[in-house]
Amino acid sequence: MKLFIKVMKEGDLPPGKSAIVNVRDKEIALFNYKGKYFAVSNKCPHKGAPLGEGRIEEGVIICPNHEWRFSLESGGCPQNPELKTTVYPVRVHKGVVRIGIDADEERKPIGKEKYTVPEELKFKIPTIQKPINPDETL
Ligand code: FES
Repeated sequence: MKLFIKVMKEGDLPPGKSAIVNVRDKEIALFNYKGKYFAVSNKCPHKGAPLGEGRIEEGVIICPNHEWRFSLESGGCPQNPELKTTVYPVRVHKGVVRIGIDADEERKPIGKEKYTVPEELKFKIPTIQKPINPDETL
């Protein structure tokens, strides 16, 4: 399931322009191409250049670094079929632009590692203290 997060008002990004927005912990390049919005990961899958600073020709983003191309619709790269950038759904409703991210990802804690204790150590962690008085039972 997708969770749609508000990123801007509709008029904030005129046709032919792009913006780099942060949606939770993701950096996303948002394009207004001929009046329609498209969102892709800002990080080029080749060497990480910001795709939001690239230009668009015929529905294809051209990376500012080495000019590899990525489809706005699918994220696919015609030069390398194994390379693809992540595309995100965009909704415009009542003048608000929203980008969809996976709801499962939304629940992940940001900036915190999951508490993971290796299985073999779990039972070696003392959870009950020994009584100070040896005659005392727990
Ligand atoms: S970094 Fe994008 S094509 Fe190389």
